[in-house]
Amino acid sequence: MKILMIGDVVGRPGRQIIRAYLPSVKAELQADFVVANGENASGGNGLTEKNARQLLSAPVDVLTMGNHVWRQKETRDYIDQYDRIVRPLNYPPGTPGQGYHVYDFKGLRIGVLNMSGQSFMDNLDSPFTAADQVVPKLLEASDLLLVDFHAETTSEKIAMGYYLDGQAAAVVGTHTHVQTADARILPKGTAYITDLGMTGPLNGVLGVKAEIILEQLQTKMPVRYEIERQMPWQLNGVLIDIDETTLKPRSIERVYKVFDEEDHPGL
Ligand SMILES: [Fe+2]
Ligand SMILES: [Fe+2]
Repeated sequence: MKILMIGDVVGRPGRQIIRAYLPSVKAELQADFVVANGENASGGNGLTEKNARQLLSAPVDVLTMGNHVWRQKETRDYIDQYDRIVRPLNYPPGTPGQGYHVYDFKGLRIGVLNMSGQSFMDNLDSPFTAADQVVPKLLEASDLLLVDFHAETTSEKIAMGYYLDGQAAAVVGTHTHVQTADARILPKGTAYITDLGMTGPLNGVLGVKAEIILEQLQTKMPVRYEIERQMPWQLNGVLIDIDETTLKPRSIERVYKVFDEEDHPGL
């Protein structure tokens, strides 16, 4: 069984890639179950209910989130109605939404857990303590566990990979929007990558028009972010092959697809 985990879907380009190409990408990769990070899907910030529905019917099976989860004001009101959305677990108690969920999929129970890092991130509770509290019961309730660790620093993400090695089937990083080249199976069997990358515009700075970020960095004045809409666009993620007998990952491979205007007119 193959699991496709997709990096941060950014703005309209990201949504269009998922809506137009996810079925063919899934078929080509023979992917069964799809997890995508949706924290930047609506204008680069957060996830509206309309966009959540579009992505879930693409079909993405589960949307994970990150530090931008609350950027669309409506999210706190609708998130509890969607068991296919998980937001970082380590927000304070009482925060709307859920940090993990177990999905029944073709006879398998797939747990998905989302957590946020602490280094250069919002000041949330320790993800390691949060993992201690839920991972044992999640492992009992599921046949395999997929973790999206949304964090800035490579060190914190690699450390989390080792922390959950041998327990989670996969620990993948998100948030930096740049795919790392370190996809591998860790010593105790967990499939790992430091960052999945991003699904959205290839040019621009992490999804935003380059000239706007250059203006901000050069003038130190506030600017209004605008998503780069021009093609080429990119889809980034990993494909994890799970042995259905042992329920352990056999392999993890990077997915890095570029969609160009010439190949795909009309998008
Ligand atoms: Fe992001
Ligand atoms: Fe983020």
